[in-house]
Amino acid sequence: MANHVCPWWLGYLLASPLRRILEKPEKMLAPFALPGMTVIDYGCGMGFFTIPLARLVGPTGKVIAVDIQEKMLNRLRVRAAKAGLSDRIIIVASGSSPQIKEDSVDFVTALHVIHEIEDQQAFFNDMRRVMKSGAKIFMLEPGFHVEEKEFRRSVEIAESSGLVLTGAVDYSRSLSVVMSKP
Ligand SMILES: C[S@@+](CC[C@H](N)C(=O)[O-])C[C@H]1O[C@@H](n2cnc3c(N)ncnc32)[C@H](O)[C@@H]1O
Repeated sequence: MANHVCPWWLGYLLASPLRRILEKPEKMLAPFALPGMTVIDYGCGMGFFTIPLARLVGPTGKVIAVDIQEKMLNRLRVRAAKAGLSDRIIIVASGSSPQIKEDSVDFVTALHVIHEIEDQQAFFNDMRRVMKSGAKIFMLEPGFHVEEKEFRRSVEIAESSGLVLTGAVDYSRSLSVVMSKP
């Protein structure tokens, strides 16, 4: 399975407002990210989805933004401060993070990242552990970059971690699915 990690400099392009022509974070995430929720944005990059998520969860919610690249997280720190949202975005370096509490998370996003994760079984096991019962995970992969059979394999790995399919959301040129913790 391919696991080439997105170069940090591409993060600037991914966080560009022009990307909204193709993907509208608020429209995609508003059905799932509600006020007061605790959300994980896994593989957050420079925060194209993190900032809108922080607005959706409101002042009583929080977004735990996880990435393996410090340069992505540093830029997200600046963007969060500029947006006045630093208090509700908790920035966590993948692998060196304090443990997120079991059964504490309402919603997880894994957007354009799963194909980059080397140990997907460990990832889904970990997400299942921290998700509350009934919490959802929204997985989306770029259809131009990831083959459908590779995506299906990721869904199978998620199922073997105990997550169940709750629905598919179809965005053009992307593969996406919503799963939940029973
Ligand atoms: C293609 S970018 C997508 C960023 C963001 N989700 C977006 O759509 O703008 C993938 C991101 O996932 C991060 N990443 C890759 N493998 C990871 C891992 N094992 N744990 C956490 N983050 C990871 C990369 O550093 C990169 O920032």
